[in-house]
Amino acid sequence: MALLRKKSDFVGDTVQLEDVGLRYADGPEIFSNVSISIPQSSFYFLTGPSGAGKTSLLSLMYLAKRPTVGRLKLFGDDVTDAKRNRLPAIRRRLGVVFQDFRLLEHMTAFDNVALPLRIAQVGEATVEKNVTELLKWVGLEDSMQARPSFLSGGQQQRIAIARAVVHRPKLILADEPTGNVDDAIAIRLMQLFVELHKHGTSVILATHNEHLVSRFPFPRLHLKDGTVTAMPPAAQAP
Ligand SMILES: Nc1ncnc2c1ncn2[C@@H]1O[C@H](COP(=O)(O)OP(=O)(O)OP(=O)(O)O)[C@@H](O)[C@H]1O
Ligand SMILES: [Mg+2]
Repeated sequence: MALLRKKSDFVGDTVQLEDVGLRYADGPEIFSNVSISIPQSSFYFLTGPSGAGKTSLLSLMYLAKRPTVGRLKLFGDDVTDAKRNRLPAIRRRLGVVFQDFRLLEHMTAFDNVALPLRIAQVGEATVEKNVTELLKWVGLEDSMQARPSFLSGGQQQRIAIARAVVHRPKLILADEPTGNVDDAIAIRLMQLFVELHKHGTSVILATHNEHLVSRFPFPRLHLKDGTVTAMPPAAQAP
């Protein structure tokens, strides 16, 4: 399939890992010899048992960690050794949903979601319109002025999702983005990712939820015992 390619084919894709290995300090190798290439505008599930390294793999992609060996490219640029002062510009093209949300506790739900737009100096009228629309989509129209600590885990997760997508990133890295919500909300949140994907955004979504994987016609990267295997979609395209 298109995902696993010869090195010579690694041109212009969204994310490319070439023979990547990762270990933390003196610990064991989490994974090694990972070579994957995520084409533009694609959607991949990232699956594997707890502790397999899904969060670690995503954290390489958003440059919170550097590969121990191998090369990493984003949008065709080799960013393996990117200097720290380049990171904000690179990260502005990404939307990350962290497994532990990482919301700013002193800000309201609205202001958390508005942050990426305000950093990009988008006008307040547009901020108001886009943030309100998105918070309504994720079902938080009544909690816009609440601080995260007053909300449930599932509500906080939806703020984290809204914040990750509000600036229409080219690549969304979502780590268990539906782990704290019920099935009905999970499907609705998936529809948001699918809609963005249809408009050209690439999505890599880590999940334990086999039910979700089986409902959507997207391929998966399966991480187990230190290696990544590409698998075809579990569901047929509608
Ligand atoms: N900061 C860290 N320092 C040392 N080891 C770490 C660190 N973060 C993760 N690990 C180790 O890396 C391995 C992979 O962890 P990771 O969180 O990437 O797995 P995961 O697939 O996301 O698991 P889960 O499904 O539970 O979220 C685990 O063995 C974990 O103990
Ligand atoms: Mg994880």
